[in-house]
Amino acid sequence: MNTANRISLISHDTQPVPLPAAPPAIEVLSAEKIYPNGTRALLPVDLTIRQGEFVSLLGPSGCGKSTLLKMIAGLIEASDGKLMLFRRDRRENQRDLPLSFVFQEATLMPWSNVHKNVRLPLDLAGVPRAEADTRVHEILELVGLKSLVTCCPANFLVVCRCAFLLHVGW
Ligand SMILES: Nc1ncnc2c1ncn2[C@@H]1O[C@H](COP(=O)(O)OP(=O)(O)OP(=O)(O)O)[C@@H](O)[C@H]1O
Ligand SMILES: [Mg+2]
Repeated sequence: MNTANRISLISHDTQPVPLPAAPPAIEVLSAEKIYPNGTRALLPVDLTIRQGEFVSLLGPSGCGKSTLLKMIAGLIEASDGKLMLFRRDRRENQRDLPLSFVFQEATLMPWSNVHKNVRLPLDLAGVPRAEADTRVHEILELVGLKSLVTCCPANFLVVCRCAFLLHVGW
């Protein structure tokens, strides 16, 4: 069932500056998604989120919220249309952009320890190992998880895995 047109957007003002004055951070231009198995997950969507704006996507299960977020994060390609981040085409290499993504499901490496789980995005981004290790120590200290550094997420309770993901969403 195609329920993509039922996504609703709620913008929460977070700044005293009128939002129209802020430059766009994310622009979704008639982007749509049809998965390889033929599922039409998202009808063409147009959306502009300005810097400093806090936006919620609302809609029933299966209407394409995660699909849209994954396209914005660059994890999947739009089938048609275009996405811009800070006025740059999403298809360019944008590893330098400050983008974080917290998965709906706890996508941790249960066999690996906390330190390596947190370091993974930095490893994938090609951050030198010494710099990555330093940043991992800093972030774990910041969120009070330093004592868990050698633990494996497989041993965490589900609720802890979710909290861990939220804390370390780069
Ligand atoms: N990788 C995939 N391949 C094929 N179809 C998919 C894939 N991922 C999602 N879908 C389908 O696309 C549609 C939208 O899924 P999506 O996960 O974006 O919805 P959602 O709004 O995030 O739902 P929920 O509120 O349950 O998280 C659904 O019909 C889903 O089954
Ligand atoms: Mg979802």
